[in-house]
Formats: sequence, C-alpha cells, structure tokens
Amino acid sequence: MNQTIRKYLSNLENLFSFSPADAQGAAARFHEEMKRGLNGQTSSLRMLPSYVGRPTGKEQGRFLALDLGGTNLRVLAVRLDGRGKAEISAVNRLAVPETVMRGPGEELFDFLAEGVAVFLEEHRLDPKEHRDLAFTFSFPVAQSAVNAGVLLNWTKGFTAPGVAGQNVVALLSDALRRKRIEAVSVTALVNDTVGTLATKSYADPSCDMGVILGTGTNACYPEKNSRPAKGLSPQPRQEMILNLEWGNFDKLDTNACDQALDRITLNPGRQRMEKMVSGMYIGELVRLILLDMTDRGILLEKKHRSVLVREHAVSSEQMSLTVPGEDFFAAIGIPDASDQDRDAAHHVCRIVSRRSARIAGAALAAVVTWMDANLEKKHTIAIDGALFEKYPGYPENVRCVLEELFARRAERIALCTTSDGSGIGAAIIAAVASSRQEQEHKPARQRTRKNR
Ligand code: GLC
Repeated sequence: MNQTIRKYLSNLENLFSFSPADAQGAAARFHEEMKRGLNGQTSSLRMLPSYVGRPTGKEQGRFLALDLGGTNLRVLAVRLDGRGKAEISAVNRLAVPETVMRGPGEELFDFLAEGVAVFLEEHRLDPKEHRDLAFTFSFPVAQSAVNAGVLLNWTKGFTAPGVAGQNVVALLSDALRRKRIEAVSVTALVNDTVGTLATKSYADPSCDMGVILGTGTNACYPEKNSRPAKGLSPQPRQEMILNLEWGNFDKLDTNACDQALDRITLNPGRQRMEKMVSGMYIGELVRLILLDMTDRGILLEKKHRSVLVREHAVSSEQMSLTVPGEDFFAAIGIPDASDQDRDAAHHVCRIVSRRSARIAGAALAAVVTWMDANLEKKHTIAIDGALFEKYPGYPENVRCVLEELFARRAERIALCTTSDGSGIGAAIIAAVASSRQEQEHKPARQRTRKNR
C-alpha cells in the first residue's frame, strides 16, 4: 500500500476512533438523556412505554403477526404452548416496494391488509374465524395502550405521508375492513425490540434487554415503576417495557463523514446514532469515504465514480466481503479494482464497522448499568439483526467495550442472538395483553384471592 493511502487511512482511523474513555463518556450522557426522557423533558431518547411487562412463559394460544420494519413485510401464524415454547406454523414474506414506502400512507396500509388477505387465503384459514393479530411496527410510536399508538416520525427510509401523527392500529384496522377482513382484530402494537425481549424472556427470566442491530438499531428494557415516569402503568411496582429509540441518541461526537451522510439522508438531524451504527447507514459511510479517496486520486480510477455516486451502492453485507478471498469491489459493480484498492477498502470497512460495534457496546453498557449500577446480577441481552449476527467480528467488538468498561464483571452480561422477535415475540406480547385483559375483567373478589 502506498504512503498516501497509508496516511489517509491513519487519519481515518483517528476520525473514527471510539476509545474506552469515549465509551464511558457516552454511557454517562446516555444516562442523562434517559433520565430526561423518563421525566418527560426534551431528550433524544424517547423512552416510549409499551404498556406491557415481560411474559411469564405461560402465555399460550394461536396468533397472527404482521411485521413491518424495513424492506420486507412478513405475515406469520404463531403458536405458543404455554411452557416457554413457540413455533411459527406459516409465514409469507413480501418485499415492500420503494413506491409503497414513500407513497401515500393509505396505500401502504392497503398493502399491509392485502398481505394479510393473501396469507389467509394461501394457508386456507377461515376468514370468518376470529383471530388476534399482533402488529410489529418498528418505528417510533407513542403508545397510549398496548393496542394503540401514534407514529411520531418515520425512520429507515420510509416517508409515506399522512401517517405521522396518526394511530397506526386504527389505520391498519380500517385497511383490513376495506379488504372485508372483519374477523381479524389488532390486539397488540409491538416494536421489534420489545418482541425480541419477549421472545428470549418467554423461556429465560434473566433476559432484561432487547436490542436490534440490523437495518436500524434500537433497544428496550423493563423499567421498574419506582422512578417518576410519564405514562407508566397505573399498577404500582409493576414493570413496563420501555422502547428507548436509541437510534436517535444525539450526544456522540460526529465527524465530517457523519455530517456529510446526515445531509443526504431523508431525515437530516435525526437518528444520529443510527447513522453511525446501523446496517442501513454504515455502507453509506464507506461509500462516501471510497468516493472521497477516488476524487483525491488515491483509489480506483475516475471512471469508477459513477458507481460510487449512487446512494446505497454499498451495503453492510457487501462490507463484510472485504475478508481475503472475497471480492468486495466486484460485488458493488467494480470488477477491475487493484489489489491495493481492495486492501484499502478492507481497512475502511474495518474502521467503520468497528466504531459501529463499539458505540453499540457503549449504549448497551449504559442501559445495563441503568438497571444495575454495579452489575450485581446476571443480564441476558437478546439481540437480533444481521449486523450482529452476520458481520464478522462484530459481536467480539461489542464485547471488547464491555470488558474495557467492566473488566471481569463483563462476564455477567450474556449477549444472545435471538431471532424472530418480530413474529414470535409479537405473538407473545399479544398473549400478554389478552391474559391481562382477562385478568382485568375478572370480578374484583376473584382477582384479589388469586393475587394473594
Ligand atoms: C429504527 C426504528 C425503531 C426500530 C429500529 C430497529 O430505529 O425507529 O423503532 O426498533 O429501527 O428496527
């Protein structure tokens, strides 16, 4: 590798460094923002109530789940056996076209309802039979009940007008009625983080955090009611899962690349941490850096600009192709790169993905210490998302921050890959909601006896 590239990369390494001291500082600012969010003050961490606590493992029944969180829509049928086991008996997956993500809101909800109609038909499910549906809607929603909530703003490239400020359960229910699906009721509205926590804690009570590290990034945890908090459960001493919306955390130092990326996104100024961490954006950071190097004449050739100027030309999956034997540049449409180019791209991807994992590690540490300042207990963290699961070395980089911050006590934190929070977990939340409703509708005397 020539001297100029080496110098560029060493400068980049500095720009993207996230030291143990940075991690500690970030965790402290994270706590301040959590506190402000809980007290109802302006904060980049929204601390949104979910109106449910963790499951007991005894929840049972059959549910439909509808999962909208990114570029795919999934419809699932889920069965919970009441002994901590869950299974998906059928699933349909559809790509959400960009025209639907960005077109009128009503059309987006018609697309969702059509997905349910096709699912019922294909799996020969009687459309007249009553079914509870859990709606996994992985965007910032201010819930007012377990089955009602208003979209605060879109994230992850969605912009469909006419939805922000509306109750998304009502929009979905209206769309289902427009499709003449009368027997399906939307009984739970679930963020994917909450579904992930529910999936793991259904069988493992030590699980107290759900995290997504995929297209977007976010986390949730069960908050004890001892803290003053707006909108928390009316029952004293009961926990409620809070959705942090940590992708919006904005107390991290950004560099010129982060700022350039923010300017070209659909939501400038928002989701600042998500734009440094998640799969949807780290490929963009790499693309902008490679483009800058090409413009400076130190990488590739000028003719390759046309590939690198295209938004989302580099994905986080492709970033992981920079290990020896894989051809990253061929995958993004540049088959004639030199070995030196490949070597340089490998370093760029390593630098960007490492910072992503380290920031995620610091945020995770902040939430764990919020619940248990001295790490006295064991904490199992359920994590879903391709970045964590598939990016080589990512979990190790997350762990490394935990070890820097907590030394031996980091052993008390278990990071567990958990899939299907948006399907199984959503069904579990629907079951929690329905058993709670039954409980609330029981005559008061019976309830008191049972609670003794
Ligand atoms: C975005 C959404 C958030 C979701 C996360 C992961 O940050 O705003 O609700 O949990 O992506 O999908």
